[in-house]
Amino acid sequence: MSPFRLTRTLPEDATDAALRADVLNGLTRTPKTLPPKWFYDAHGSELFDRITELPEYYPTRAEREILLGRAAEIAAASGARALVELGSGSSDKTRHLLDAMPELHTYVPVDVSESALRQAGEALVAERPGLEVHALIADFTAGIRLPETPGPRLVAFLGGTIGNLVPEERAAFLTSVRALLAPGDALLLGTDLVKDEAVLVAAYDDAAGVTAAFNKNVLFVMNRELGADFDPGAFDHVALWDAEREWIEMRLRSRTAQTVKVPALDLAVDFAAGEELRTEVSAKFRREGVTAELAAAGLDLTHWWTDEEGRFALSLSVAG
Ligand code: SAH
Ligand code: TRP
Repeated sequence: MSPFRLTRTLPEDATDAALRADVLNGLTRTPKTLPPKWFYDAHGSELFDRITELPEYYPTRAEREILLGRAAEIAAASGARALVELGSGSSDKTRHLLDAMPELHTYVPVDVSESALRQAGEALVAERPGLEVHALIADFTAGIRLPETPGPRLVAFLGGTIGNLVPEERAAFLTSVRALLAPGDALLLGTDLVKDEAVLVAAYDDAAGVTAAFNKNVLFVMNRELGADFDPGAFDHVALWDAEREWIEMRLRSRTAQTVKVPALDLAVDFAAGEELRTEVSAKFRREGVTAELAAAGLDLTHWWTDEEGRFALSLSVAG
């Protein structure tokens, strides 16, 4: 039997139903919004990988620097025999962690992107013979059920993806993660930190336009899946720093007054000229905030590591 297993926790048409519900709900309210997980079809996952290589997009490099420097400490502190990774994507940085964990028995990457899980999983079993890779297609905001694994478990949530949830969603998410942890298990959390506005905005509005293409990919997803007739050229990519909430907000701004049809929902959506659709937030953190949000979910922060420049943090916490 191949050591790579892939489990779909939702029937394929559940994704369909969820997309319909999210689009109907998001495009008929004011202001219009869409949840970020719909960015990540196969093309979106590829575009995100290109974002991680952009000169302006520092979070991936900063987190990699921490992982490279601290993997042995993380492995020793957790003593994990199973690594569960939420929103694992290409699992690229995870390799630094895996390299420091020769005793690891099972790796459980969890993602909504089946293509990313297949690519990463198949490569990993080839690189690490003996490692069991049990990939899970699942929505980590919907409460996941983990496969049987030996313990202790380390649950990793990297890339600053937690910042793509708004505070109420983060609280619910962290509480659900806390419920996954048995005594002796730990959470490794990557959080991007508050810094100079120009640096932040550039990371989400790069000169080559890759982030703009990524943002607009959600329009292609709706065209393909719901028969919508969005013209991606009729929208501009917008990235703004909200200093009060300390998050980057990504929007798509309609260049003109237009009506978009969404036949699968029997819906016509009017956009005024200049009207914006909010597609994503990316919250930035401070140590006190991370500690407090973890504590509110019953998690005690035990370690805090940053890169040399203090741009990004990894924290380790345990169930209190
Ligand atoms: N961890 C990787 C990828 C981060 S991009 C890194 O650090 O580079 C965010 C990843 O989370 C994508 O692979 C996306 O498909 C996945 N994702 C986004 N929302 C999700 C959700 N609700 N449930 C599961 N996976 C999700
Ligand atoms: N988790 C990534 C982040 O917040 C996701 C991301 C990077 C993103 N660039 C983006 C999401 C552009 C939407 C648009 O940094």
